[in-house]
Amino acid sequence: VTSWTVRQFEEVSYQVRRTHLVLNPANDALARAARFAAGSRRLFIVDWQVDELHGGQLREYIHHFRVKGTVVPVRSGEPNKTTNTVLGIFDAIGSLKINRRDPITVIGGGVLTDVVGLAASLYRRGTPYVRVPTTLVGLIDAGVGIKTGMNYNGMKNLIGSYYAPTQVLLDPAFIRTLPERHIRNGLAESIKLGIILDRALFELIDANLREIIDSHLNSPVGDELIDRSVDGMLNELRRNLWERELRRLVDFGHTFSPRLELLSNGELLHGEAVAVDMALSCVLAGGRGLMPEDDVIRSIVLLARAGLPVAHRLCTPEQCSEALAETVRHRDGNQHCPLPTGIGRACFVEDLSGGEIASAVEQLTKYVESMEL
Ligand SMILES: NC(=O)c1ccc[n+]([C@@H]2O[C@H](COP(=O)([O-])OP(=O)(O)OC[C@H]3O[C@@H](n4cnc5c(N)ncnc54)[C@H](O)[C@@H]3O)[C@@H](O)[C@H]2O)c1
Repeated sequence: VTSWTVRQFEEVSYQVRRTHLVLNPANDALARAARFAAGSRRLFIVDWQVDELHGGQLREYIHHFRVKGTVVPVRSGEPNKTTNTVLGIFDAIGSLKINRRDPITVIGGGVLTDVVGLAASLYRRGTPYVRVPTTLVGLIDAGVGIKTGMNYNGMKNLIGSYYAPTQVLLDPAFIRTLPERHIRNGLAESIKLGIILDRALFELIDANLREIIDSHLNSPVGDELIDRSVDGMLNELRRNLWERELRRLVDFGHTFSPRLELLSNGELLHGEAVAVDMALSCVLAGGRGLMPEDDVIRSIVLLARAGLPVAHRLCTPEQCSEALAETVRHRDGNQHCPLPTGIGRACFVEDLSGGEIASAVEQLTKYVESMEL
């Protein structure tokens, strides 16, 4: 037998920067990230809603730096996370005739950064791209890691890749135009990090919730929330970028929620389904004596005060058991279920039973009724 072995390691390195007013010509962060040179061609793939609201500013920015920019608006929302959208992005890149190493820029929410990231990972087997997230989910979660994806055959993110952007620019000013429901949706992911690994983040949200929502995070507390959330998220992601380790704390709230989100057929946004899952998971943790009851109640109350659902008609013992079975397949045959052991701390459990889930659903209903949420 004659054999050859190839062994190589690829370094992944990218910067995530919070910056202020990224589309103001006085701020050259985007011009640098997208390597603007006068007269060069650049492609900007922009969420259609963001284009309506901020497209004028983007075109002025491009004009200011004397770049031949083409802005392509793309429809977002979960139903557009499809093959057709990815193919459309290939066509947009192809028609512009940009050089192979010229970065493209995606400006939009998690749906757009996921599909453009996927297209960029495939086009010429890898085209550099810059991410500018414009939703709270994007700023603290979808925009900062290296996962890309699209939905396929009724499954969320079934097709995807790990493909790092060259740079991520976070500008909270985009959140000023984000509808309140989407702010609450993003807050679910911050509260998740607070419960599972950062008590100070939980306390920050708990103490300043009204101001955070009213200011659309454009306040010092909003900046602090974003910084702490990104910090917590990146600390978890950076040591497990390719998810070789399937025990992930950031999967808290993502054990039962994928099925709830899917079954709700668009009624529940991602963060809303995650909130129901987190409430149930806290009750499960309380039932095992892992989480003090006061912390269970505080967590559920904060989720509810943030305008997130903590119970849902689809959250039945049967559906939750089915959801757990699906998650076990996703986690390669293990439950790896993160449960809090108090606010800001967590462990993993591997032996949740159907009976335990049924009792937790019942207990959660009792809590919700007694709290009159
Ligand atoms: N790659 C990852 O690691 C990762 C992590 C978390 C979530 N995600 C993905 O993110 C997606 C959800 O992201 P999302 O919640 O940002 O949804 P989204 O991209 O659909 O955006 C939500 C809505 O907000 C609008 N919008 C975007 N920015 C706006 C702005 N500044 N002002 C006004 N409207 C604006 C969009 O047009 C859309 O209608 C899901 O598909 C999920 O799978 C990916």
